[in-house]
This record gives sequence, C-alpha cells and structure tokens, in this order.
Amino acid sequence: MNEQKHTSLVNEMTLDEKIAQLTQLATPFFKGASDGGQITGPMAEMGISDETIGNAGSVLGASGAEEVKSIQRKHLKENRLGIPLLVMSDIVHGYKTIFPVPIAIGCSWDLELAEKSAEIAAREASASGVHVTFAPMVDLVRDPRWGRVMESTGEDPYLNSEFARAFVRGFQGDDLTNETDRVAACVKHFAAYGAAEGGRDYNTVDMSERELRESYLPAYKAALDEGCEMVMTAFNTVFGIPATGNKKLMRSILREEMGFDGVLISDWGAVKEMIPHGVAEDEKEAALKALTAGVDIEMMTAAYVKYLKILVEEGQVEEALIDEAVLRILTLKEKLGLFENPYRGADEELEKEVVLSTAHREAARELASKSAVLLKNEGVLPLRKEQNIALIGPFAESGDILGPWSWLGSKKDAVTVREGFSQKINEAQLTVAGGSDIERISEEQIQDALHAAKDADVIVLALGEDSEMSGEAGCRADIRLPEAQLELIQRMKELGKPIVSVLFNGRPLDLHGVWDETDAVLEAWYPGTEGGAAVADLIYGDVNPSGRLAMSFPYSAGQIPVYYNHYNTGRPKGAPDAQERYVSQYLDIPNSPLFPFGYGLSYTEFTYSGMELSSEKMTCDRQLNLTVTVTNSGTAAGEEVVQLYVRDVSGEVVRPLKELKAFEKISLEPGESKEVGFSLTEEQLRYHHSDLTFTSDRGTFIAYIGGNSKDVMEASFILEK
Ligand code: BGC
Repeated sequence: MNEQKHTSLVNEMTLDEKIAQLTQLATPFFKGASDGGQITGPMAEMGISDETIGNAGSVLGASGAEEVKSIQRKHLKENRLGIPLLVMSDIVHGYKTIFPVPIAIGCSWDLELAEKSAEIAAREASASGVHVTFAPMVDLVRDPRWGRVMESTGEDPYLNSEFARAFVRGFQGDDLTNETDRVAACVKHFAAYGAAEGGRDYNTVDMSERELRESYLPAYKAALDEGCEMVMTAFNTVFGIPATGNKKLMRSILREEMGFDGVLISDWGAVKEMIPHGVAEDEKEAALKALTAGVDIEMMTAAYVKYLKILVEEGQVEEALIDEAVLRILTLKEKLGLFENPYRGADEELEKEVVLSTAHREAARELASKSAVLLKNEGVLPLRKEQNIALIGPFAESGDILGPWSWLGSKKDAVTVREGFSQKINEAQLTVAGGSDIERISEEQIQDALHAAKDADVIVLALGEDSEMSGEAGCRADIRLPEAQLELIQRMKELGKPIVSVLFNGRPLDLHGVWDETDAVLEAWYPGTEGGAAVADLIYGDVNPSGRLAMSFPYSAGQIPVYYNHYNTGRPKGAPDAQERYVSQYLDIPNSPLFPFGYGLSYTEFTYSGMELSSEKMTCDRQLNLTVTVTNSGTAAGEEVVQLYVRDVSGEVVRPLKELKAFEKISLEPGESKEVGFSLTEEQLRYHHSDLTFTSDRGTFIAYIGGNSKDVMEASFILEK
C-alpha cells in the first residue's frame, strides 16, 4: 500500500476510528473477560468502551506467538476496516535471553556485540509476535541515585550516540518489511529524562537550551539518523513545559530540525500527567496540548478518546492534525508489512527454536563477560583452579541477576554464580553460604558463613542490590551497599583471608566499605541470563576483564553529579597557582570520583608510548592524525580500550575539561605492541555557541590519549580558520 492508499483509508475512517488509532492500551483490554483479561483497578477507571478497543491502533505488553496471534485474530474480526494492531513491548536488554543491563553494555565499549544483543532480542521478540520495542533508552545520565541509570549507556554524549546507533541497527536491521525477524525501535525518553533533579524519578528537569543541545540531544539524534522508527516522550519538563505537551521540543526541534517524520508516542500516562504537572486544567486541555505538540499515540490514558472529538467539534483542533497522526501510524504498520501479514514474525515453532537458544545464550555470556569491570585487584585474581573457595553472600545462589526491564526473562533460566563456579572447580573445593539477605543479617547467617569459609583459601563475596532497588521508580539517596552486607564484609574479614567482592547492581555505587575493605572488586552489574557463567569466566581468568566504566563511580553521594566531562571553573582545585582554601572543592572529600569514566583493570598491564600528531596545526580541510603505541607489558593476553579525548582550551563559552572523541578496542598478546591511529576533523571540534550555532573556534586544543579519562598522554595542536 502506498501513501495514496493510506490517505484513502484515512478518509474512509470515522473520527472515532481515527482517534482510537491514536490510543494505546495494555494487553488485558484485548483479551476479553473469558480469557483472563478482566480489567480492574485504574485500568477499569479509564472508561474505555469496547468500540474503542476494537478500533485501537496498538497494544502494549503483548508477547508470545500464540497470545499475539489470538489478539490480532480477534481484533481483525472486530475492526470494521481490518486495520491490524501494532504490538509494542519493552524489550530492553533481551527478550528471554537476557543480556546485561544497558549501563553494563555501555561498559563493554563493544558496539558490535551491543548490536548483536539487540538483533538477538529482536529475533526472539518478533518470533513471539512483537512489532515494536520501546528501546533504546539513550538518556544521558549523571546521577547514580536515579534508578534508571541502569537503562542508559552512561555519561558521555559520544559513547551514548554510538550505542544508540548500534542498538537501532540491531533491532531494525535494513528492511523491516522483509526481515520479519527484526522489530521497529522507539528511542526514548525525549528529552533529557536522565537529568531529573536530585536523581529522583519523574522529577523536574531544567537546563539551558545550549546544554540540552550539547550533551543530551546527540544520542537521540544519532538513533534517528540510524532510521529509528519511533520516539517516546519523557515524563519530565523541558524549558518549563512537560515534554509531552511541549510544542517547541516536539514540533520545532524533533520534527522540523531533526527531520523526524515517524510516530511519536507519549510515555505511560504522560498525557494525563500534565494535570498534576500544572499545565492542564483537565484531560481535555491535556489532550489538546499533547496533540498540538505532535504526540501521535497516547499511551495508557484516555484523554484523546474522551476529548479529541469534542475538541474537533468545538474547532479547537483541526481534524487534519489527527489525520496526520493516523497516517504516520498506518505508514509504520505498512513498513512492518502488517497489511500483508498481520501476524508478521509470530510463529510458535520458530519461537521455540530461537528463544533461549544455545547460540543466544553464548552471545549473552560473551557480552556479560565483556561488560563487567574489574575495579580493584590486589593480586588475588584470577583465582587458581586448585584453590578452595568459599562463596558467600545474597547473590551466591540467586537468580536475581537479570536486572530491571527483564520482565520476560525468568530467574529460573539464569545461571547463578554458584553454578558458574561449579563449571570451573570440583564441588569439594567449593563451600557456599548466604551470609546475609540483601538488607538484613542475623548472627546465625554470619556463623554459617564463617563456618563455610574456615578452610577456604579465598572468600568470594557475591553482593549487591536486588533488582527492585534500581530501574523505574528505583531511586536511592544513600547509594552504598545496604548496611547488612557491609557488616557481612566486616565479619568475614575476621578470618584474615583474601576477599574478592563481586557486585550485582544497577548503578554506580558509593563503594565505601567494599573497595577499601576487600582485596578485589569486580563490578558485574546485572549480567543477565548467563551471568554466573560469565562471572566465573572472569574470576578464573578464562576471560580477561576488559570492561571500562561508562559512568563515573562517585567518591560519595555528596559529590553527585560527578562526571568526567565537566567544566573547569575559575578556581579549579589543583591548579599550579591555586590557593589552599578559595578553590572549588569540598573540605571533606576529594573532587574526583572514586573511579573515573573509562576506567577498568585487566589481568595484564598496558603501557602507552610515543603519542604523535601528524601536525601541530589543523585546518577545516586538513584533518589531524594522531597515533600512539600501546604495549601489553604484562603476562596475559588482553583487550584494551584506547580512548581519545580533546579539550578546547579557550572557547566562546566554557568547554569541558575533556570530551571523548573516539575509541578503539584492541587485543594484544603478552609483549605485543600495536600502533593505534585516530583522526580528528574540524567538524569534531564544533559545539553549540551562546547563540546556539554549531561551530568550532580557532585556537589551541589539547588531545589526550589513554586507557581511561584520567591517566592520559597529551599533546596540543592549533586549529587555524
Ligand atoms: C516507562 C517507559 C516504558 C513504558 C511502557 C513507562 O513507565 O517510562 O520507559 O517504555 O512505561 O512500558
């Protein structure tokens, strides 16, 4: 069907039918009372009629080939014009084969594997009937108190943009019509959801337009440039107006400037939330504002259904606006091939074959092992297979390692740490004890743990946050490990044995009580279905850790936000001529994070030498080439992430101390050296000036190359214009 046919279909539709297309309802609405789909609670209060359900454009949260087919079959019977339903679900880091949480994937710096994880998620999801995933979430994050940092790839606009592209490529492939094993992607949450004040979910966001454009918009833009089909609004305010009713943000910036002509969906309930935000008197005004701003689909509230028709009749809304929105939705349905085959990829047999297949599990294991970050190692790791190990802690035998947004994954399918260790050593060498719960500890648990560890050579503590402690609405003000687990560490120290901490969590933590009290710290994040196997691979050195932090670990929560690409201030701490007191600092803690962006250890050492620039000057037409030699000076083969940063020494507005411009992940055998080359063009030095123009400044720049954002070599150059 082409555009003309879509237009004539829109012309055939009644206004009610059109408005229903713009409404997204959760699965229970489509199941009918006899099918376990009784609507209760807030959903019942939405006041949705059977007619609206029969004409609804999309369903949220349906999955499983059988379920989706039956919903679609029923829908097509009820829908006068036979318009198929779009099936949308949150397939965030895997469908049933769960990959590490996105913040962990960010730490892999491995774009190919990230793309593969999305491709696998798409394959499982589409065989199970899903058409659109509400992913990738590409919100830049600087506040680890915010529970949703686990859904992001971190604090850097460039790294986030690269991952945004990789995820979109993986989900969508090249051709959604013919590749029915892919799904359409929906980038979210537009915009700047990650900047919620105080790290409290759904809270106010207020920043300059310059900062929004400079740090926050690039990753959404990258996803759109990669062809991402949909965008989701954010819950927060932008320029004082909730994103969902923000005409400037959606019509001017997203649609006109960024050229987005796909489907814009509200976040869950965000249209109606304009009332408590205080910019709409009632649902009618909320509907008016959302549609005027350009929101095509209202998710899970009924303001459009209840009021758009009245608004048209009153002349407050032009029907043409509704037609445009319907047309965009029909176009997406067409792109997905739903008019030809409304069941698309849904296939019970294929579903059985691909979901949790061995190949998918292997990919999950590989990515989990590349996402973990070794933060400290005082000569304990890797463990030797002849050592006796006591595995202690609430995560020793827990399947709660999938992380938030793994609603289709099953803890039962997860490989626990204990199971991972059992694949490496004899049962006789392994003793296991819970030691504590996540937030509670008893003397009995401690005594059991001490007993289990008494003959061990090394104690491995599997610690962390349970998956309810991060994710949506999972914010914490104190981001240390819960007291109970800190106490467990203290009590295990009484034995005087080496202790390795392995952490399972969804945010950078304040690691006091862990990094200073134990001999090695491995940040495993929520590693997914194959988590325990991947952790064992790393702990026993079958895989050499290569993850590097995509988000700084704060020294303490009082420092937040702490991120590497900050400004210098007029009184920077540590400057050669700085006074002792009147500088920008805390009196009680350092300014620097505990572990900086880009940081991560390996079982080998990498040394950098011979950084060279092709010239001291670059121009708009002549790029600069930078090279450095990286040597594996240790005894194990390993992977290093070589990172290039730049500082604009004097800008028209203040510039970050360092900005990531490029990186390369290389692998080196012991003793091997490699020359790594980067190029820099004038375009990469552009930024948003005070009048919002995007240009570069002539003058001095410093290039830094190193294995993290702190330990770098440097050389300066001049941009001539
Ligand atoms: C979340 C979105 C999600 C949506 C649908 C909302 O609460 O903020 O990220 O896609 O629910 O499940």
